[in-house]
Amino acid sequence: MEPAVRIDGKQVAAEVIATVKKHTAGLVGETEITPGLAVVIVGEDPASQVYVASKSKMAKECGFHSVQHTLDAGTKQADLLSLIETLNNDPAIHGILVQLPLPDHIDEGRVIQAIAPDKDVDGFHFINVGKLGTGEISSAFVPCTPAGSMVLIERVRGRDLSGLTAVVIGRSNIVGKPMANLLLAANCTVTIAHSRTRDLPALARTADILVAAVGRPQMVRGDWVKPGATVIDVGINRIPAPERGEGKTRLVGDVDYDGAAEVAGTITPVPGGVGPMTIAMLMANTLVSACRIANRQPPVF
Ligand code: GUN
Repeated sequence: MEPAVRIDGKQVAAEVIATVKKHTAGLVGETEITPGLAVVIVGEDPASQVYVASKSKMAKECGFHSVQHTLDAGTKQADLLSLIETLNNDPAIHGILVQLPLPDHIDEGRVIQAIAPDKDVDGFHFINVGKLGTGEISSAFVPCTPAGSMVLIERVRGRDLSGLTAVVIGRSNIVGKPMANLLLAANCTVTIAHSRTRDLPALARTADILVAAVGRPQMVRGDWVKPGATVIDVGINRIPAPERGEGKTRLVGDVDYDGAAEVAGTITPVPGGVGPMTIAMLMANTLVSACRIANRQPPVF
């Protein structure tokens, strides 16, 4: 078989960002509204700091009003909730993102549900989860990683996925469940697999679209993949890479790329696949939020 075509997430993310920039310029030129994104981080987790800094920077590049609130690890839950209340009521802010995880003394669920649903660009509020689950996608916010994965799938297979079999490995609220709902809304026959699933390799082999979001390095092997399938690898795992020198590491996905690429039709790499799409869709969601306030038709991504 021909080796799989690699899906270039960096390229598609750049196209999404270009669309965001163009529509932001139009919005700013023709209305009084500039999309505003507030990113909140509590504590000093180094990975979270890197993510948050790149979100704030990309927001500026898009022409947004971008604010970052960096709170120390000991911040009281009540103070975080009062900051969210202020941002909920600030007309210059259209998107609020509280970086997860939060320190143990803060109730993450409480904080997420305190964000105004119409500014919840992460799509984690019950209102947005419910809209996605009932197919009210045009007025929802969809979580960024599954939304970005869906854009990549549609680039390869078109917007109507009618009748295709999809298997999502992983049932998290951030990726697995919303991903399954998006595929269902696009008329796929969807199965969610997880740690208790029996004979996962056989189930995975039924999938025209196989999404791996479990956080286990290279778990999905080539012989789990149906010939010609579209494989979307959401995993980002750091593993030892002694071949690069002592103590060195490298990033791999939840899919054994080389093995799967011998069988798949199309496949996303790690890094450079789903990763760049996540931040691009955060920008897209923030623009969409501002368009709703301005009563303008948002672009379709
Ligand atoms: N931490 C890891 N992924 C995410 C995400 O998508 N949103 C937020 N807010 N925090 C995260």
